[in-house]
Parts: sequence; C-alpha cells; structure tokens
Amino acid sequence: MTLELRTAGESHGPALVAIVMGLPAGLRLDRDAIDHDLRRRQEGYGRSPRQQLEQDRVEVLAGLRHGRTLGSPLALVIRNQDHENWAWGMSPWPPEGDASGKGTTPVTLPRPGHADLAGALKYGHDDTRHTLERASARQTAVQVAAGAVAKALLREIGIEVVGRALEIGGEATVEEWKHATDAARADRETLGGVIEVVSDGVPPGLGSYAEKETRLDARIAAALMGIQAVKGVEIGDGFALARVKGSEAHDEIRADRGRETNRAGGIEGGVTNGEPVVVRAAMKPLPTLMRPLRSVDLETGEPGAALVERSDVQAVEALAVVAEAAVAWELARAAREKFGGDALGDFLAAHTAYLERIGWPRNA
Ligand SMILES: Cc1cc2nc3c(=O)[nH]c(=O)nc-3n(C[C@H](O)[C@H](O)[C@H](O)COP(=O)(O)O)c2cc1C
Repeated sequence: MTLELRTAGESHGPALVAIVMGLPAGLRLDRDAIDHDLRRRQEGYGRSPRQQLEQDRVEVLAGLRHGRTLGSPLALVIRNQDHENWAWGMSPWPPEGDASGKGTTPVTLPRPGHADLAGALKYGHDDTRHTLERASARQTAVQVAAGAVAKALLREIGIEVVGRALEIGGEATVEEWKHATDAARADRETLGGVIEVVSDGVPPGLGSYAEKETRLDARIAAALMGIQAVKGVEIGDGFALARVKGSEAHDEIRADRGRETNRAGGIEGGVTNGEPVVVRAAMKPLPTLMRPLRSVDLETGEPGAALVERSDVQAVEALAVVAEAAVAWELARAAREKFGGDALGDFLAAHTAYLERIGWPRNA
C-alpha cells in the first residue's frame, strides 16, 4: 500500500488538477485547512501581484463524501482565476474570434535559468510558452493541496510537519529579508534563499536501508529537488558533517534510545530513528529578471534580451510551504507503506501495535 500523486495543469490554463491514490477510507479532510496552506503558499514578501489576483481554493471532484475519504481516488482541482485574462491565449481548443487578452504572441526569447530553451528543443516548440506554462511553479499550488491531505493523515498518528524560511538573499532576519527584497526589486534583480522543514512525532522505522526507492533520505531529497528552483538539499547537518570528525558528527544513544543531539536529522541508514526529521533546501535566485539577461531569439537566431514577464522578486517563504508539503507527502507515503490498511482504523491499529512492540514513545 502506498500513496500516489499525479498532477496536470498549466500556469494560465483553466485549472490545476491532482489525483491522489492510496488514501485510507474514513480520513476526515478539512477544506479550511487545505485552503489555509494554499493561502500560505501565496504569501511572503517578494511575491508578484498575481498572488492578489489568484485566491486559491481547493475543489474536490471525487473520492470524498461529507468530508471523509472513500478509499477511492481523490480528485483535487484549483481553478486559475487569472485564466479569464488568458482565455484566448491559453484556450485548450483552437480559439474562436480575434486574438485578445494575454498570451497571444509567441515567446521566442528563452530565459537563462528557466526551462524555456531546454523545453523548446526537447519538444520542438516554436513558442516557449508551450514549455513555460507547465514548467512554472504555479503547479506547486496543487502539490500544496495534496500535501495538506498528507498532513491530515500524518496528524492522525501524531506527526506534525512545519516549514520555514531560514535565509533570504543571504540574510537571516525578517527585517533584513524585507530590505534585501526591496533593494533587489529596485535593482530589477531576484533573490534565492534557504528553507528548513522539521517533522516532529515521527516514529522510528519509516523508510528502509539499501535502495534509492526505499531510503527515506533519498526520497525526501528527491521530493525537495523536485520543486522548481531547488538546487541543494541537506538532511540534518548535511554538508557541515563533511568538515568534522566522527566523534563530532554522530548522535550518541542514551539508555532510553533517545539522543542528546540530532546531527543526522532523524534519519540513519535511510530509516527514521525517532528524532525529529530535519531537512533544508537551497533555492536559487528566480530566473525571470526585470533586467533581462542575454539570450537568443529562437525565430531569427539573433541575439536578444530574455523574456520579461510578471514575476516574483523572491519566493523563499512560499518555497517553505511547498517543501513542507513535499516532506509531508513523503512521510505519509512511507507511513502508508509501513502501516497499510484500507480503512483509517486499520492504519491506526497497525501504528499502535507497532509502537507497543517497540515500546514507543520511549518515555511512556
Ligand atoms: C514557489 C515558487 C515560486 C516561483 N516563482 C517564480 C517566478 O515568479 N519567476 C520565476 O522566474 N521563477 C519562479 N520560480 C522558479 C522557476 O519555476 C524555476 O526556476 C524554473 O521552473 C526552472 O526550474 P529550475 O530552477 O529547477 O531549473 C518559482 C519557484 C517556486 C518554488
């Protein structure tokens, strides 16, 4: 038994869609909690005006009755409210009438750092909008909705997952982030940063040792790398561990099987060890610059300036919410694999029986 997620949707198309498979029947979902996470994803200091245009709300088309999962596939939809401005340009069918609104002229100047050039070459597109609409991080909205569902399942077994920004543009405090973001906006620049996700209440034993498909550290790293603009991931002390001695790198085990330190970030041998799971991700500065970098016009072959389009100055706080969802998803998937069950009660009973067998929580 595992969880599966498939998504579809273009940034300015009619909607974003997710299908979630493998949830137990009987899990209570709270629409406000999902919408709350969608709102958190849209907040943050450096976001573009689009975030005011869109007020994301989840719709459920299947798999839920009276707020409880049915054990059948859960179909989630988030409408792109901005689509009305792109109705001609992003019409799924050949548009009728004269061209109007946004997205009516082809984009032929790929942005360095975005998927534009690679996608145009790979798929044979002469308009990089065919690429950038799907490559855009707009689709993280539906990932956040799926993550909110995963968090509801995890909460049933006492696991809480929280993401936060640690650094933006190399600065560490909220005031400094704002200054750095204002300065970057004035300079027509963009910024990156570092986020952290901490998961509490995770029992020992999620994940397994030997393969990238089963090692939880590998899976979490892939989940975080799977988010647009993430270019580095570390578990626990990560890169800093490479610079210390073994005696300073590992977490000694007490008689009650707890640890004084958590340099491993709660995962040893690919398996959770009962300490909080701590992971960090580094985000590069966003590629859409209001002072565009040099590029080439794919139509004429002439040098030109890259596409300029409405864009965030930085989205690090939003990444923290998306990363929280990604980690929650992986933990929920690992929990489904370990505890199984078609009904929520089966899942909870297996979890309880396992904790009894290993004598956990360790102080109980
Ligand atoms: C929450 C979030 C918001 C983003 N917003 C923007 C944006 O407004 N403009 C932009 O150029 N890139 C933005 N990005 C990053 C691009 O989507 C990303 O750099 C691009 O898809 C290329 O992928 P890569 O950076 O992983 O190579 C955002 C990423 C995330 C996670």
